[in-house]
Amino acid sequence: MSEQQRQFDNFDEFAEEYRDIHDNAIKLSGADSDFFSEYKIVELTKTEDTKAAFNLLDFGCGDGNSCIYFRKHFPNITINGIDVSEESIHQAQEKGIANATFQAFDGLKIPYADNTFDMVFTSMVFHHIEHDLHGGILNEIRRVLKPGGRFYIFEHNPNNPLTRKVVRECVFDEDAVLLKPNYCKSIINQAGFKDTNTNFTIFFPRHRLLKWATGLEPMLTWLPIGAQYYIKASK
Ligand SMILES: C[S@@+](CC[C@H](N)C(=O)[O-])C[C@H]1O[C@@H](n2cnc3c(N)ncnc32)[C@H](O)[C@@H]1O
Repeated sequence: MSEQQRQFDNFDEFAEEYRDIHDNAIKLSGADSDFFSEYKIVELTKTEDTKAAFNLLDFGCGDGNSCIYFRKHFPNITINGIDVSEESIHQAQEKGIANATFQAFDGLKIPYADNTFDMVFTSMVFHHIEHDLHGGILNEIRRVLKPGGRFYIFEHNPNNPLTRKVVRECVFDEDAVLLKPNYCKSIINQAGFKDTNTNFTIFFPRHRLLKWATGLEPMLTWLPIGAQYYIKASK
């Protein structure tokens, strides 16, 4: 096993089938993989200017599915995606997303100059990285952000039993180690970010009968049992 495989989970073998595997793994939620890609970007539209022309880095972009929704909800931004999985990057490039570039990298040193991005977004990546490496990677993310730039990290919430079940049963999460929300916040603070703010999301399955309940979710973002959470921070 190479050094890289030991430090990061290897997604090359799942790249082509990633969305089918994910759809199957999350059936319990009543939603599909595209829903989970899009809802995160819709969350960002609540506090970000959707008309602005800014430079985005999607760290661990995988097959680029989030970038489809960045393009849809933030039509004027420039999109850059990086990932350790060359096969996933190939899938992202194949999508032909306008004003978007994707490249593979070594997973440690972000291949961009200091102060390049207005926003760094990362979704469901850190639980695939050895915890000893988190601090160094966050330093890298902070380095490539412009002063005042925003960082968003979305993660599974290990406090939620259904999340734990889905992760336990998903083949590409076999080696995943979920990040407790407090741990995640503390490493972000340690890396020198400021204004860290945690929001919990996805409290109810997306079944028709529970549609009324999902309308309550914006009032529950403080409750640490949502299926996922995200932390917003700034440089
Ligand atoms: C569960 S997938 C999520 C993909 C995408 N962010 C999404 O939300 O659809 C996790 C991704 O993290 C990538 N990854 C793992 N370690 C990484 C690292 N050190 N740097 C960048 N990406 C990494 C994997 O290759 C994989 O594409």
